[in-house]
Amino acid sequence: MVSRHVGGSTNPQTRLADVDAKHVAADLDHVIVTADEIAAKVTEMAEQIDADYAGRDVLLVGVLNGAVMVMSDLSRAMRIHLTMDWMAVSSYGAGTKSSGVVRILKDLTTDVLDKHVLIVEDIVDTGLTLSYLADNLRGRGAATVEIAAMFRKPAALTTDVDVKYIGFDIPNDFVVGYGLDFNGHYRNLRDVAVLGKHMYQ
Ligand code: XMP
Ligand code: MG
Repeated sequence: MVSRHVGGSTNPQTRLADVDAKHVAADLDHVIVTADEIAAKVTEMAEQIDADYAGRDVLLVGVLNGAVMVMSDLSRAMRIHLTMDWMAVSSYGAGTKSSGVVRILKDLTTDVLDKHVLIVEDIVDTGLTLSYLADNLRGRGAATVEIAAMFRKPAALTTDVDVKYIGFDIPNDFVVGYGLDFNGHYRNLRDVAVLGKHMYQ
């Protein structure tokens, strides 16, 4: 993983026309993982997951909204049969801190009893959300519950949640792109970049 400065100035017209790191450079600090690096990592993760789940029925559970990109790329890179379902959760907490108390906003439509569940997540921060979700699905009688996440911030982890498949360990900065948003924006940025501090301070 290489840090790259985005550089360049931002024309508001271009910004509206094209969400690309070089066109929203004024909003970003620097790109930490490029779209090409993500694509290569997705292939690598899919090969490992295919091998581990060969001969088993796997249910991919995507966590809305951030996991839409990794879910769509990972599922298409996988070669074994699979099914998909989605959950939406919101973390109760004072201010910006995750409390570990998670509210289910949209539940699965699938019964997970005796299924091999792989939770697909964009990013692991404190780990509280995933720790809750994994326990919740185990409680419903899933045969196995594992986690795949594209990004993890080791410095922010406050739980010992076991993430079996991890794309990139990244610094403890607020990042956007590849499904990750700031106020709903930048989810379709193809690279992942640290958001400029001036955007939220
Ligand atoms: P926890 O702390 O429970 O939270 O692991 C995970 C959720 O927090 C969000 N999150 C981020 N979203 N940029 C984002 O756009 C970030 O840098 C970031 N860090 C955490 C995200 O929704 C994730 O599912
Ligand atoms: Mg998320």
